[in-house]
Amino acid sequence: MRLGDVRLYAAIGARAAHLAKAAGDAWLAEHATLGVGAGELFRGLCLALGNLGALDIGQRTGRVLVVHDATPLLETGKTSGLARPFRASALACGGPRIRSGGFREEKTMTQALRIALAGLGTVGGGVLKLLAENAALIERRAGRAIEVVAVSARDRARDRGIDLSRYEWVDDTASLAIRDDVDAVVELIGGSDGPALTLARATLQQGKALVTANKAMLAHHGLELAGAAEQANTALKYEAAVAGGVPVIKGLREGAAANAIQHVYGVLNGTCNFILTTMEATGRDFDDILSEAQALGYAEADPSFDIDGIDAAHKLSILASLAFGTQIDFDAVAITGIRHVIAADIAEAAALGFRVRLVGFGEADAHGLFQRVHPCMVPEGHPLAHVTGSLNAVVVEGNHVGRLLFQGRGAGEGPTASAVVADLIDIARGEYGPAFAMPVKSLAKLGTAPAGERRGRAYLRFTVADRPGVLAELTAAMRDAGVSIESLIQRGAAADGSVLLVMVTHDGPERCVVHALEKLEGSPSLLGPPMLMYILEN
Ligand SMILES: NC(=O)c1ccc[n+]([C@@H]2O[C@H](COP(=O)([O-])OP(=O)(O)OC[C@H]3O[C@@H](n4cnc5c(N)ncnc54)[C@H](OP(=O)(O)O)[C@@H]3O)[C@@H](O)[C@H]2O)c1
Repeated sequence: MRLGDVRLYAAIGARAAHLAKAAGDAWLAEHATLGVGAGELFRGLCLALGNLGALDIGQRTGRVLVVHDATPLLETGKTSGLARPFRASALACGGPRIRSGGFREEKTMTQALRIALAGLGTVGGGVLKLLAENAALIERRAGRAIEVVAVSARDRARDRGIDLSRYEWVDDTASLAIRDDVDAVVELIGGSDGPALTLARATLQQGKALVTANKAMLAHHGLELAGAAEQANTALKYEAAVAGGVPVIKGLREGAAANAIQHVYGVLNGTCNFILTTMEATGRDFDDILSEAQALGYAEADPSFDIDGIDAAHKLSILASLAFGTQIDFDAVAITGIRHVIAADIAEAAALGFRVRLVGFGEADAHGLFQRVHPCMVPEGHPLAHVTGSLNAVVVEGNHVGRLLFQGRGAGEGPTASAVVADLIDIARGEYGPAFAMPVKSLAKLGTAPAGERRGRAYLRFTVADRPGVLAELTAAMRDAGVSIESLIQRGAAADGSVLLVMVTHDGPERCVVHALEKLEGSPSLLGPPMLMYILEN
């Protein structure tokens, strides 16, 4: 087999020295500690193997070294010693692909990728089922089998409807990271901190690949984990963390990688979308549908993470980092959930040609990074208006590709497991790459763009007392704040004597609308807090 040019990416420095020492290679340990360039290191290695004569070492930039026709090196059979110190990645140009992990992978390419699974709930159970059901297909696609070596969860006695006898059960979840017979760890426990984070850190520290579906952990610690993966020259993969089975992470990281992304936004929480679209279809009120969603298993017993927009905000912060090349900044997401959306809002939206969706919206401009999760009025002609039930959808707008729409099942055993296993297939193939599409040091730290600088139209709904002067008070507050009203609808008095007033504003600065609402705060004319929804333009 002739390989053509091969690019090698070497791990150098303290970690390589440590590994070299562990592998008993004094030459490597010394040179790695000295921090010599990857090229020198490789040249030295080749010398050590007596291969230099056969190798034509070409261009070297930083950690990248081009070897013209690396065939002899791969044919020596002496290369396994290079594996641990280097954890190199190799990519054949003009020849077949060699996976990340470089020479070490020469050995493992034909061996199974050995994984440990932590968490055997909805997603973990789904992963075991999928790996078993599609084993042959996965092996053909990945180039090698994916073998579950060990599993762990909280309660060993729990009946999960899966035969676990084929796998070694481990009580101490964190110990999965340090097993010699494990190449990659799959974390499906959940929670931003605690055992999931402990396991994630330990796994990457060991230089093993990590797959996770844990958006909460990534939103809070994604930057640190990406840095740890980079340091160890290993993979951090998280396709399932955003929009479940929808391959939007890959879409942004790879498919749209050539574009400057202008906006990324979408329907990111299936529970909220189920509630809103069921309200839309039935005319029933929020609390009623929430109870139904809980009974159907679409909403948790404690639904606050979903309906208060936190879950969508976790996902948005991950998407924004990938889309704009910025450091994850979950704390900067402005979050409003759907608790205060009433049936009348949905009905008014329909009358005005809109549908209500909880939209996570991200944009980066001269003012900084803007991230907001908020109930929005979506025009009927917009793709997000047609995302119904528990589906998720993400819109990515790139400067060359235009608008991309990623849509599908954002949760559930099958779709989420599909994304987790896709990540494992990538790892088995050696397709690593930086977690957030660029090296951590290249991720910009942007300030938060103030919402007030934004322009747009807004929907406002007031529940007011049925008495003279109220309408004048509201319109005066708008006028004084500089808000121009495009339309105003007043509905007749309800049984309790309250009146519904709905306004749509003309395009204008958002700060003016916020200012008008501040002026009205505490007014005895208002019988409840007003509802503000931003209007998404086509
Ligand atoms: N469910 C979805 O549709 C979906 C979609 C996208 C992403 N995700 C993400 O995927 C992850 C898993 O979600 P899930 O729905 O599968 O959760 P789940 O059904 O609640 O399962 C969690 C699993 O973690 C185990 N676990 C909990 N605490 C543990 C601990 N201290 N030590 C060891 N194991 C522990 C549990 O063990 P026991 O079974 O013994 O209690 C259970 O097997 C989360 O990060 C979630 O956000 C889920």
